[in-house]
Amino acid sequence: MNHNKELKATHVETLNGFPYHINLDNISVENFVAYYKENESTINEKLEQNGAIKFRGIQIDSPSSFQSIINDIFDEFSSYVDGNSPRIKVKDNVYTSTEYPHTQKITMHNELSYSGNWPNKLIFCCIIAAQKQGETLIADGRKVLNTMDASFVEEIKEKGITYIRNLHSGMGLGPSWKDTFETEDKSEVNKHCERLNIEYEWKSDDSIRLIQRRKGTLLHKSTGEEVWFNQIDQFHPLHLGEKLYKNLRRLYKNTHDLPMFVEFGDGTEITEDRIKHILDTMEAVTIAPTWNQGDLLLIDNELVCHGRNPFEGERKVLVSMIK
Ligand SMILES: [Fe+2]
Repeated sequence: MNHNKELKATHVETLNGFPYHINLDNISVENFVAYYKENESTINEKLEQNGAIKFRGIQIDSPSSFQSIINDIFDEFSSYVDGNSPRIKVKDNVYTSTEYPHTQKITMHNELSYSGNWPNKLIFCCIIAAQKQGETLIADGRKVLNTMDASFVEEIKEKGITYIRNLHSGMGLGPSWKDTFETEDKSEVNKHCERLNIEYEWKSDDSIRLIQRRKGTLLHKSTGEEVWFNQIDQFHPLHLGEKLYKNLRRLYKNTHDLPMFVEFGDGTEITEDRIKHILDTMEAVTIAPTWNQGDLLLIDNELVCHGRNPFEGERKVLVSMIK
């Protein structure tokens, strides 16, 4: 069975007012900051109800203007330490949204949900919109949970999820531990692992195996609503497409040696059919709002999963993670 559907772009731009749109009339960066501060409680209320807000019509033309907005609006930021996607730190608190190959769709996930320390909010900013596609995809985690097969959700809640990563020291598939932990010092990595409650094991080839045990769903910290909150499909190599998956399985006889892998918390297999079910369910509820230069997309990371459509041409979308 071919399952390359997940590699195709998503096209639905908006659904039932999701994301919530705020159109501003070619407003300067300074005026946007003033607008945001004046309306902060309403914005937060909307974010809590809707999960995602798109701001359009701000004069943002560089990473510096985005940085000045976020530094003026938000107080505390999260770093990408322990992140699983390649990205570059552009400025303090500002990252490229991902350096992942442009031909591939990034499957839906909640940022750092496998880690013990995820950001509350993410704010994306479009500096250059891709010639074709490249939308930042979003899906409401409440809807995802309700659309997913109920017995599968129960199984996840009962058994929990184990995420496994094998990070090389510089040469190999996937990100290295140096990039992942933003350090070259192993003792720093150990400290991060202990702080983030990650089980770790250094190997003789200087690689490290990380094991993280998580729940898979979450009660939202302020509303108490239950949401889908995991990265199961992103950690399972089947999301890369059937062909690549088969090659990887040939290369790694033991699934625990794969760069990334996921199983139930009791060590039982999450079958390929279940992974396909996640990918199909996600696709059915995913929205792809178009990017224009100067747009901001603010999302509640617990309420909303995100991903990225493949794209053509130059694309510069930055992200900042807020505690
Ligand atoms: Fe992400």
